[in-house]
Amino acid sequence: MTVLVTGGAGYIGSHVVAALARAGMRALVLDDFSNSSRAVMPRLERLAGTHVPLVEGDVRDATLLRDTFARHPISAVVHCAGLKAVGESGERPLAYWDVNVNGSFRLAEVMGEAGVATLVFSSSATVYGQPERLPVDESAPLKPASVYGRTKRTVEDFLRDLAASNANWRIAILRYFNPAGAHPSALIGEAPRGRPNNLVPFLCRTAAGEFPELSIFGTDYPTPDGTGIRDYLHVDDLAEGHVAALRYLADHAGALTLNLGMGRGFSVLEVVAAFERACGRSVTKSFAPRRDGDIACVYADPARAQRVLGWSTSRDLDAICADAWRWQAAGGGYEKG
Ligand code: NAD
Ligand code: UD1
Repeated sequence: MTVLVTGGAGYIGSHVVAALARAGMRALVLDDFSNSSRAVMPRLERLAGTHVPLVEGDVRDATLLRDTFARHPISAVVHCAGLKAVGESGERPLAYWDVNVNGSFRLAEVMGEAGVATLVFSSSATVYGQPERLPVDESAPLKPASVYGRTKRTVEDFLRDLAASNANWRIAILRYFNPAGAHPSALIGEAPRGRPNNLVPFLCRTAAGEFPELSIFGTDYPTPDGTGIRDYLHVDDLAEGHVAALRYLADHAGALTLNLGMGRGFSVLEVVAAFERACGRSVTKSFAPRRDGDIACVYADPARAQRVLGWSTSRDLDAICADAWRWQAAGGGYEKG
């Protein structure tokens, strides 16, 4: 079985490719490298122990997609390609709607033509906004607070419409909570360009001396220690969730929407403490005002994923921090090829 992984050179896609290889499935990567490095490819081949074919190009390019489906024996698609920076999405709505929404339209259209009906889609817990009840389950109202979140909600709606229109479609919509960490080999990991927005990459770079201190955004949230609470899950657990979804879709039609999270929340201070234990050094911190658009607390009810897929996380916060730090200590990027 060959699985097309769009965005397969990116943070999550690369870990999905590695997890597919561990599960004995072949991957084909489609990526335009707009937010990733070509140097990830030989590392993926080392991890997979085999050649990993690459199609370089844009997921919105229908001609390229038709050619890709004609040339390769693709039986399923994991669609990770997209733009993901919340702040930037408000400044570049056209780019976010075009890449995230039109990219998904083109892909589904060409899949339909090619008779490939199995699709796993990268959605986000950001579609919930600040949920009224915690833990948040999949029936919670969708109130995305950013352009990015609204593009994800739109693609979700579109995919559910598609599955309702034709019983051939087999679609899993995966709402990721906060993926973090890296592959334990330190061959692949998260390599954000410029100043990282997310907590764990910022901690890594600060502990490595790239930034003088971590700003803790908000200490007056209605949480036990006053800092924001999130559901962090190891990127390898997340990647394995995609493999479990593909296995499930092999004999189930329709559209399935699932939270992928650990099912518990950690505060910023708890993550910082775990990270300091993992790297064996202390990180300079300062207390800063709340970040615009941030919510106080969100964590998943992952029971549906456990019940339907038999999937749950197996790596804890300490493993997330240890693997993130190992990746950082090995360079934290792909510059050396
Ligand atoms: P990433 O930027 O590391 O990976 C995305 C990949 O897609 C990159 O390799 C990029 O070059 C590629 N890409 C972007 N636009 C493309 C286009 N038009 N055509 C072809 N390739 C293109 O991001 P990631 O963290 O790996 O996220 C993957 C998916 O998961 C995204 O859809 C994102 O919205 C979603 N997601 C991520 C997180 C997270 O915390 N990382 C959380 C929830 C959801
Ligand atoms: C961000 C995105 C969200 C996306 C998620 C995973 C925003 C508003 N939301 O969410 O849509 O799905 O990443 O990619 O950008 N923090 C600090 N200092 C820092 C960085 C973060 O204190 O330098 C705090 C934040 O305030 C938050 C927690 O750490 O409480 C986690 O932040 P982050 O990693 O950016 O994830 P989210 O805020 O959940």
